[in-house]
Amino acid sequence: MKKVLIFAGSNHSKSIHHSLITFTSSLLQNAEVTLLDIRDWEIPIYSIDMDPDQTPPQINTLIETIQRHDGFILASPEHNGGTPAFLKNILDWLSRRSKAVFKDKPMLLLSTSPGKGGGATNLGFLANTLPYQGAKIISKYSLPSFHEAYQNGTIVGPSLAPLKENVTQFLDALNA
Ligand SMILES: Cc1cc2nc3c(=O)[nH]c(=O)nc-3n(C[C@H](O)[C@H](O)[C@H](O)COP(=O)(O)O)c2cc1C
Repeated sequence: MKKVLIFAGSNHSKSIHHSLITFTSSLLQNAEVTLLDIRDWEIPIYSIDMDPDQTPPQINTLIETIQRHDGFILASPEHNGGTPAFLKNILDWLSRRSKAVFKDKPMLLLSTSPGKGGGATNLGFLANTLPYQGAKIISKYSLPSFHEAYQNGTIVGPSLAPLKENVTQFLDALNA
């Protein structure tokens, strides 16, 4: 069975992206799923002066974890139209320790927000830039108006079907 790593690039203790990945992981049939919680990671802001001797241990562990998996689902918040510093910092550290860390393996991108945009602007940015780090982007899904769409641990209404379609596309690529 193929191994899927699913994680959210948020350090918010009540992260709505963590809720989104928890629900999404329940849709992953016939795959071995690792749900990684990085909300409490305190990663120093990348500096060339710290590189390589002060690489945070979590970064090396994350690289090993990524290497053990066949595909990835990454959920990212959007901050001011872009990638939150928390996630961008982790991606920058990864890029320094492992070239093309995602090794041309399939990735599904997810985002949500309380507003109508659903974090789609940043998702476009990540879809364009993560291939530099080896990600093979299969598709992207953004969920607007999170607090209306997500109730009692589940996505309700018209946003559910497109999420299922994206997950199916991802699983097809994973098993191809
Ligand atoms: C500094 C900051 C900037 C934000 N900018 C955006 C934005 O550009 N677009 C958006 O949809 N939501 C924006 N938000 C709202 C986030 O979508 C919201 O905080 C969401 O809960 C973040 O996801 P998380 O809970 O998983 O961290 C912003 C929030 C913060 C704190």
